[in-house]
Amino acid sequence: MTVARVRRAWRVSIPLLCGILILVSFLMPGCRKKKETYALVPKSIGQIYWEGCRRGMEKAAKEEGIKGYFTGPATTDIAKQIDIIENLIVQGVKGIGISPNDPTAVKDVIARAMKQGIPVVTFDSDSPESNRMAYIGTDNEAAGRVAGETLAKFMGGKGEFVILTGGLGAHNLNLRIKGFREAIKNFPEMKEATDEQPDDDDSEKATAIAENLLISHPNLAGFFGVSAPGAPGAARAVKDANKVGKVIVVGFDDTPECRGYIKEGVIQATVAQRPFDMGYRAIKVLVEANKGNKPKTKIIDTGVLVITKDNLKETEQKYD
Ligand code: BGC
Repeated sequence: MTVARVRRAWRVSIPLLCGILILVSFLMPGCRKKKETYALVPKSIGQIYWEGCRRGMEKAAKEEGIKGYFTGPATTDIAKQIDIIENLIVQGVKGIGISPNDPTAVKDVIARAMKQGIPVVTFDSDSPESNRMAYIGTDNEAAGRVAGETLAKFMGGKGEFVILTGGLGAHNLNLRIKGFREAIKNFPEMKEATDEQPDDDDSEKATAIAENLLISHPNLAGFFGVSAPGAPGAARAVKDANKVGKVIVVGFDDTPECRGYIKEGVIQATVAQRPFDMGYRAIKVLVEANKGNKPKTKIIDTGVLVITKDNLKETEQKYD
């Protein structure tokens, strides 16, 4: 081999060797910097409402270079939700956001995580007596008042109505009901036909309950759907009973199904929360906490927006 050939061979093989080395080191797990994991635990998975939170989490995760993990129980089961949080602690996640199914039952597990140096925030629904760092979500009592005023307006200030709620133990929903009832007090001709009915955030249950109520209370003139599946559930029943416009439906959240019923005139209004902001800000607060920056305030209000047929177009929430 001539000297020139040897030199050429080196020129070709050195960059090749470097390339291979870089590739091998990238593929070897030990050589890659593993992304830290942060988890958000909703009340239950599968409900479209949570999609906004999940997308907000993903956006923040991308910006922060961390891994976002969205995990929760299949139904609004507090024991299962606590098990999931316990597991996340054992796995050593770097931060946890929780929307508790019960504000009291989660206190201990929140305290355990915080004690181990894992920052915890609540989002969507709070556990005010726990030592979570902050709550990120709607001011539910105020939003409930808005819902009450809205239902009263559409019912002309009189008639029988029913409250269709999610889980009876949910702090956020109970605050909404409180605010709602406060607002209704100003309308003496409005009457609650029966106690609030829980659908456990299950849309089929919501429809079945609404169907039965329309039969057992023939004078029913209004539904207040407290959580996302409530109003669409009632809307299906109202439509089937041919009572569109005669029975007013006001609910919570901006889901495609709810928008469809507003367009059709079956649901008159919805109080839209900002789940994307909740997921996004929850991750941001947790990441900052690990840098030693505590949130400036313990309550971060993400606000609401009332959507009716009149502002349906301009209120479409953009997620990116
Ligand atoms: C509430 C959530 C609830 C969801 C059900 C929302 O209105 O904020 O807490 O779980 O509805 O889809």
